[in-house]
Formats: sequence, C-alpha cells, structure tokens
Amino acid sequence: MERVYIETYGCQMNFADSEVVGAILRDAGHCLAESVDGADFVLINTCAIRDNAEQRVRHRVRELRAQQGRNKRLRIGILGCMAERLQSRLMAEEDNVSFVCGPDSYRRLPQLMAQVREGQRGAEVELSTTETYADIEPVRLASNGISAYISIMRGCQNYCSYCVVPYTRGRERSRDPQTIVAEARGLFEKGYKEVTLLGQNVNSYRFDNVGFPELMAMVAEISPLLRVRFATSHPKDLSNELLEVMAHYPNICRCIHLPVQSGSNRMLKLMNRKYTVEWYLDRMAAIRHYMPDCSITTDVIAGFCGETLEDHEATLELFRKVRYDYAYMFKYSQRDGTYAAKHLPDDIADEEKTRRLNEIIALQGQIALENNRQEVGCEYEVLVEGESHRSKEQLFGRNSQNKVLVFDRRDAVPGTYRKVKVTDCTAATLIGELCD
Ligand code: SAH
Ligand code: SF4
Ligand code: F3S
Repeated sequence: MERVYIETYGCQMNFADSEVVGAILRDAGHCLAESVDGADFVLINTCAIRDNAEQRVRHRVRELRAQQGRNKRLRIGILGCMAERLQSRLMAEEDNVSFVCGPDSYRRLPQLMAQVREGQRGAEVELSTTETYADIEPVRLASNGISAYISIMRGCQNYCSYCVVPYTRGRERSRDPQTIVAEARGLFEKGYKEVTLLGQNVNSYRFDNVGFPELMAMVAEISPLLRVRFATSHPKDLSNELLEVMAHYPNICRCIHLPVQSGSNRMLKLMNRKYTVEWYLDRMAAIRHYMPDCSITTDVIAGFCGETLEDHEATLELFRKVRYDYAYMFKYSQRDGTYAAKHLPDDIADEEKTRRLNEIIALQGQIALENNRQEVGCEYEVLVEGESHRSKEQLFGRNSQNKVLVFDRRDAVPGTYRKVKVTDCTAATLIGELCD
C-alpha cells in the first residue's frame, strides 16, 4: 500500500480527472494522503496550455527535491497534459521524476507505481479513441459536498491553430449518458446540490441518439433542487435547441461560458475557430432572446500571430458590445506542434502582448463593475457554499448566473438555497443580505 498525494493544475477537466485517478488508486488498495508530508508518491496532474502553466510545474518538481531529501521513499509521477506532450523527454529533463502517465492511461497507474518500486522508470502515454472512465466513480477530492464536476466527454478535435489540447487529449469521444445520469443522481442522493458537466466542447456531445440538449434535459430532470451547469461551449456549435432546453428548466443555470478568443474576423480565421464575429453576436442575441437573465463569460487571447492594432481594437469593441460578466484573459503563448507554431510567426513582442492584455483587463474590470452595479436592489436565489474568506460572520454562495454573493450569516447554512438581496458590489463580488 502506497500513500499517494495528488496535486492538480489546469482546467476543471484536470480536477475531474484527478478524482478518477483517486478512485483508481483507492481500488488498487492505496490510500490518499492529505499532504506531501509522509506521502510515498506525489502525482502532479499537469496543464500544458501555456508556457507559464508548464513552468509552474517544473518549478514545483524542483522544489520537491528538498522533500525527497528528507523522505527517501518519495517518488514523483507526472500526469495529464504535460506528460502527454513531453512524454519521456520530461523524465530526461527532470531526473527526480519517476514516471509520466498521459490522460488516457490512468488505469495503468497501479502498475506504473509498482514498477517504480522495482527500480524502473516508466512512461504510459498512449492516447485512446474510446476511454471515458465511464465505469469509475470518482473520489470527490476537492469537494465541499455541495458541488461536483462530472466529465461527459474527453478529447478535442477542433484544432484551433494555437491550441495544444487536441495533441494532449486526443480524439473527441462522449461518455454513455446512462452513466452520467447515474453519477449525477448518486451525487444528489448524497446531498450534492450542483453538478457541472464538463468537456472541451460540450455542444458536440453525442452518444447514439443522445445529443447535448437531450443529455442536459435528462440531468435536469433528476430534481428541480439539483443545479446543472456546463463548460465549455464552442460558439460554432451553440444551438437554439440547447437554449430552448435551458430556458425550459429553471435548475439549468443561467450562465454560458462562450470563449470568443478575438473580436477580429481575420484573427478568428487564422485561429481556425470556424465562426465570425457576426455569427458570435447572433448567438449572443439568441441567448438573450431565450434567457434575458443569462450571464455570459468568455476567454480571450491577446497578441496572437500577426494581430494588428486594428484587430486588437476590434476585440476591445466586441467586449464593449457584449459586456461580459467575467472573462479569462490570456497572452498568446506558442505551443510546439500546433498549426500556429508551424506556420504562423509569433511576431508580437512580449511587452506589446502585455500592453494589449492589460488594456483588455482594464476594460473588462470596468464593465464587470458597471454590470454588478446594475444588480444592486435585485433578489437572487443563492446556493450557500461556505464561509466567506474575509469574515467568519459572513457566508458566500452563487446565484444561477454564477456570480458570488457575500452576506451576513444569520441562520443560513451551507448546502441550502436562500434568497439574498444585493445591497452593494465590487467588480468581482455582489454584497447582499438574506431576505427570507
Ligand atoms: N475548449 C475550450 C478552451 C480550452 S483552453 C474552448 O475551446 O473554448 C482554455 C483557454 O485557454 C482557451 O479558450 C484560450 O483562450 C486559452 N488558450 C488556449 N491555448 C492558448 C495559447 N496557446 N496561448 C494563450 N491562451 C491559450
Ligand atoms: Fe483548444 Fe479549440 Fe479544442 Fe478549445 S476547441 S480545446 S481552444 S482546440
Ligand atoms: Fe490544460 Fe490540458 Fe486542461 S492543457 S487547460 S489541463 S485540457
């Protein structure tokens, strides 16, 4: 029996995968450790999306040398997207790493660990066209007992020209809907109140005759007290049919994450996103038609290959038009092996990328604050999640739009729904008071 500590970086899908890894290890008779101290293995589930994500992991691996000096049994395994991207090269470069294991090989972890104990290093990086871990009930590692992730599909084959994910996660494949519904129902029966269905492009979910709108309806039917969220939607595939299903079920949350990446058609074409700004704005109008109270969030990349000041201005203009509630904003980072790395020069200087990024961040901050100010006076049903980070006297929760509300505790308890009236705000948080 090994004591295993799992550390996770990257997107929600990686966090969901770590919970599958936890289950595989537990079934193999190992136990999960709460920290590195006293652990026999540290498994680092990694992200390769941008260079800084990889550098963070490299730094962590080097930092763990000190622990390994104190604890001679401690071995390091690298999981996830960096393992898949770099394969055994990563072990050559970081000599304190004992094995690498890609995202479709987690069932082989117990063997890999046993091999390491016999003194071998190992690499399992085969990608699969069928693996969905559908039969594995994840160990809820990071969970508050209220909200959980459910992975509904794996992989991506959209090949956006800047993106490494198709290479690290392999072909797109959907998980049997019956296993998804069973997992969601099981969570609800254990007291969970919210599930988030995860995939790189959930709109293209399909298993036999079940598409994403049908799957959403099936999960929403479990109980009106179970909130259902999803991520991520690719704008090219966002259908009216899905919006109709969302509008029909009040427990499907009024929040759509719709990464735009750029406000310039020229950039979108070079990015191979397969939609135009006009198409995106049409989808935006459709969302507002079906659900006027729906919040919209996005991802954007500053300084992609050949981006002119005009292209950048078009992104700012789109942000002014859409008025996102939240945005994840990034500087372009070239990834080896992608179409952009092979064919498009990374020609915007780093300081200029930073400048453009900061301009987007400043604009978005202002918009988020203005949006939030309009919420003052509104009442929301909030799923109470826990204690506020600032004060023990206050709790926080989220409304259907996924906005965080902070309010005085009174008799409220985590895991319940309460009505909260917004009285004040910052750009990131709504401040309110219980009103039921
Ligand atoms: N599947 C999701 C996104 C997954 S990656 C989608 O298509 O929307 C999350 C975000 O990281 C992307 O939306 C993009 O904004 C950003 N990203 C991806 N590759 C990047 C790169 N090479 N440099 C900078 N940002 C990148
Ligand atoms: Fe990457 Fe595009 Fe796939 Fe998203 S849809 S994971 S950005 S290739
Ligand atoms: Fe990162 Fe892999 Fe997710 S590259 S963003 S962990 S799919």
